[in-house]
Amino acid sequence: MTSTILVTGGTGTLGGHVVPLLRAAGREVRVLSRGVHASVDGIEYVTGDLLKDEGVDAAVAGAPVVLHLAGGAKGDDEATRNLVRAAVGAGVRHLVYISVIGADTIPLGYFRSKLGAERAVAGSGLPWTTLRAAQFHDLALTVAGKMAKMPVVPAPGGLRWQPVDSREVAARLVELALGEPAGLVPDLAGPAVYGFAELTHGYLRARGKRRLTLPVRMPGKVGRAYRAGANLTLEGAVVGRRTWEDFLAERVG
Ligand SMILES: NC(=O)c1ccc[n+]([C@@H]2O[C@H](COP(=O)([O-])OP(=O)(O)OC[C@H]3O[C@@H](n4cnc5c(N)ncnc54)[C@H](OP(=O)(O)O)[C@@H]3O)[C@@H](O)[C@H]2O)c1
Repeated sequence: MTSTILVTGGTGTLGGHVVPLLRAAGREVRVLSRGVHASVDGIEYVTGDLLKDEGVDAAVAGAPVVLHLAGGAKGDDEATRNLVRAAVGAGVRHLVYISVIGADTIPLGYFRSKLGAERAVAGSGLPWTTLRAAQFHDLALTVAGKMAKMPVVPAPGGLRWQPVDSREVAARLVELALGEPAGLVPDLAGPAVYGFAELTHGYLRARGKRRLTLPVRMPGKVGRAYRAGANLTLEGAVVGRRTWEDFLAERVG
């Protein structure tokens, strides 16, 4: 009999790839969700809320490995502190966390809260592993879809993305969760760097459409950080194989 792995965020985009991979590896999985879901063979759903600190102790009990993928636009630091407190109480043996490239360099609330969460994990006293990933193709698709609705495509000067396939992130996380705690591991980024407008034009091409581009300038500290590539890992990253074009061909083409 194998021990249960708790997956927070198991109902999300990334979690939707991680859970079947863990099952394929023969692991029993427990998923924490704010919603109510019927448990199925090998996947137990428990209800709780990390931000409200509800149901977290029960979710962690008897799960020596925790794969923490739950996240939102804000509050990941607080949610993670709540999880860490419960995990320490339960004697978790390996806490695995998904963060984002730029957590320590981009001066925006989302990135700061990811850094706060990273610190909660690293300072927990528990054995831990944290992976920083680039933006997922799924997110690029959502953003490009919104941009494509505009009459012209805004092109913030110097803003680049290195989008990565969420299935490759999931596979890496499963490998890490089934291995020994490794601390902060090399970043995982996509195989190519795109200007922001390029992503939208790629999407438009896949849909057989065209738009003009409108150059815009991102002001302030955030603009400077993006222009300096603070959200990219150009050296030393593990690089995914599936490109934005591959993803578009599958999802849009
Ligand atoms: N998307 C990207 O481009 C990207 C890039 C790098 C890193 N990441 C990180 O990867 C993780 C997963 O991202 P994703 O795109 O798969 O997210 P997603 O599709 O938006 O899913 C978010 C997940 O978090 C859970 N969740 C949110 N708030 C919660 C709370 N208060 N308590 C318990 N569960 C909560 C949701 O579960 P329920 O709704 O079922 O409660 C859902 O399963 C996040 O930590 C994100 O920061 C994402």
